Amino acid sequence: MPLNIIIGAQWGDEGKGRFTDLLAADTDAVGRFSGGDNAGHTVTVGEDVFKLHLIPSGIIHEKAICIIGNGVVMNPAVFIREMDGLIERGIDVGPERLKISRACHIITPAHIALDKAKEMALGTGKIGTTLRGIGPAYMDKIGRSGLRAGLFAHPEALTAAIHAHIEAHNNTLTKIYGAAPLDATAVAAEYAVYAQHLAPHLADASVLLDDYLKAGRAVLAEGAQGTFLDIDHGTYPFVTSSSPTAGGALTGLGIGPKMVGRVIGVCKAFTSRVGSGPFPCEAEGETAVRLRGTGANPWDEYGTTTGRARRVGWLDLVMLRHAGRINSFTDIAITKLDILSGLAEIPVCVAYTLDGERINHFPHSLEELGRCEPVFELLPGWQEDVTGARTWDDLPKAAQNYIEYIAKDTQTPISYVSVGPGRAQVVDSSAIDLLS
Ligand code: GDP
Ligand code: IMO
Ligand code: MG
Repeated sequence: MPLNIIIGAQWGDEGKGRFTDLLAADTDAVGRFSGGDNAGHTVTVGEDVFKLHLIPSGIIHEKAICIIGNGVVMNPAVFIREMDGLIERGIDVGPERLKISRACHIITPAHIALDKAKEMALGTGKIGTTLRGIGPAYMDKIGRSGLRAGLFAHPEALTAAIHAHIEAHNNTLTKIYGAAPLDATAVAAEYAVYAQHLAPHLADASVLLDDYLKAGRAVLAEGAQGTFLDIDHGTYPFVTSSSPTAGGALTGLGIGPKMVGRVIGVCKAFTSRVGSGPFPCEAEGETAVRLRGTGANPWDEYGTTTGRARRVGWLDLVMLRHAGRINSFTDIAITKLDILSGLAEIPVCVAYTLDGERINHFPHSLEELGRCEPVFELLPGWQEDVTGARTWDDLPKAAQNYIEYIAKDTQTPISYVSVGPGRAQVVDSSAIDLLS
């Protein structure tokens, strides 16, 4: 069986957790490959809502083992808290089922303090990070001074490494940012306890997943963040510090490209973004409230990790085509179609104008992107509630047209249409030929 990869096609929060859960039913191993607890993935099963930040969303189904890949930066305190929450809900998170790559990097209080200090120093030019220490942890990784999870199996080495790490970062915190120093001894003591908890979970993720793939078992890579938050391909510097794109799945789990089967791009039926940075289709006023919701529903556009109101706008096909190219999407899953019910017409961005000229691509330059104006096509809306749709024929004709329009524009099959957060609220459209 190949490796299937789930990727966010926009700026995150597309519904990747929901689709990981769906596909986990037929999967033997699910691995996170990028980011850390900046992610917030929601899985809704009946009345139960699970919000996962670090542990893969495949954990909710009994079948799959779950792995934190080497590409992740993991905060052990958050990880253990999340494990405890799952244990309370009767979910097996034992070391046979939940594994941590020895090569993934550890987030410390110094990373979190640095994230906060840097954001504060940037003032109005801040990135709008989740303040989880993600950027500083990846800086240490790339700077070859990070702490890896393998240290959890070597308590003395871990203590020495934490001391050196905190002392080095205290220098920056106090001298550059004028922030308070951290107590290295207290942090080392805290991390010694985490190490005891987590050492039994350590594994070589690459070897483990290779064994699975060779044995014909199904492996799923659960993307975090989204294509436009990618450090290389996103709206730099308003991005995260990792590669949440398909290439990142391979380096972040230690699997080669020959093993890849599907690359499923998850895309909201409109667009959302949390944090700062350009957003060509951003809506304001009534349209924004209409798309975001007021916060009354659990699925309204307020961040799972930070609770911040998400910025919203209509669907941007320029972005989706860009994401398709970067990731080689084999197919697309559309989420939140239900939110568009009740509109007379639905604008869809098909191109931009830049200095009076029509362009069909997403510019690299933020300055250019900031000057782009969306070119909208107006598609007919539908009035029916679609949350009960379970087959293609259950969808109103205009909703079918909307999906078909996206498939044709991106030249990519659309395999699923999600019409609500619940596990069953999905239309499998994989048998429908939307391209011809
Ligand atoms: P992720 O980070 O990509 O996993 O997405 P999030 O969980 O952060 O945000 C997606 C939100 O939309 C969650 O509250 C989901 O429960 C919800 N959701 C997912 N699919 C649908 C859908 O088709 N319709 C509605 N109304 N909500 C959905
Ligand atoms: P999921 O997996 C939405 C955004 C932050 C900020 C930028 C940098 O739930 O889709 P960071 O803390 O990573 O240094 O912040 O990236 N961001 C996300 N936005 N969904 C996410 O994850 C995100 N992870 C990071 O809001 O703009
Ligand atoms: Mg999210």
